[in-house]
Amino acid sequence: MKDMAPFNFQADQNRICQSFRRGLASYHRSASVQAGIAAQLVRLLQQQGAPDRFQSVFEFGCGTGHLTHRLLESFNVSKLVLNDLVPEAAAALRPVLDRAPVKFRFKPGPVETLPLPQQLDLVVSASTVQWIQDLPGLMERLAAQLEPGGWLAVSGFGRSQFHELAALGSQAAAPSYLDAAEWPQLLPDGLTLMAIIQEPVVLEFTSAVELLKHLRLTGVNGQSRQSWNRSRLQEFETQYRSRFGRNGMLPLTYDPVLLVARKEG
Ligand SMILES: C[S@@+](CC[C@H](N)C(=O)[O-])C[C@H]1O[C@@H](n2cnc3c(N)ncnc32)[C@H](O)[C@@H]1O
Repeated sequence: MKDMAPFNFQADQNRICQSFRRGLASYHRSASVQAGIAAQLVRLLQQQGAPDRFQSVFEFGCGTGHLTHRLLESFNVSKLVLNDLVPEAAAALRPVLDRAPVKFRFKPGPVETLPLPQQLDLVVSASTVQWIQDLPGLMERLAAQLEPGGWLAVSGFGRSQFHELAALGSQAAAPSYLDAAEWPQLLPDGLTLMAIIQEPVVLEFTSAVELLKHLRLTGVNGQSRQSWNRSRLQEFETQYRSRFGRNGMLPLTYDPVLLVARKEG
């Protein structure tokens, strides 16, 4: 499984965008791991003592709204600014937003270059920060827009994310897989880390075709340049089974990292 190609950030972001755009229709029902992470992130925020009501919230990488939905069901939000790289996410979010009495705006494009909303009391994002090349830079910009006492709740993935694919030679990894232990030094001064969790989730597939279908339906393998034919697929399945196969199944490891931080008052 070889996806080797020279790194070009702009080209790769276009590829990521295309991959998520293609997967948008199927993402919401196929991305069960991300749905679980979104629910867990909101619980973590509540457990850390977040208030019931937020005045001004920014969510980036909102996708089809797994986190948006959990957030609006658990907190009273007055004003919400949503962002995603893929402009078509705005339409996909409709069913979630129609159910909630919230004033919202959707801003498409890469969050790295987006003019950020100001005076925020909460910044949230699930399963997206792994796609951000300059994560310390983004965290610095976000922290600057948080009000004193404001909250940050984000999730990404650790270095074991899809480790089976990496071991078989895939270069499709996102640029910023970070373990829980790496986050404290990445957060800007003035943000206090309240809680961080890293717990792998392993899915199992009956065949390589099913596993690859899962990656395509969720759009999560956005940097893959692999094109498949019958013999490549056969070789991939044989290698996968011999290295990782368990009781006839093919495991695929997700390595979510969830954290809540707070700006000093
Ligand atoms: C795995 S999905 C997560 C979606 C949603 N937050 C959830 O929990 O289901 C990652 C999302 O991040 C978006 N994304 C990737 N890179 C981005 C960037 N640089 N700026 C904004 N959104 C980005 C993708 O388009 C995709 O919708």
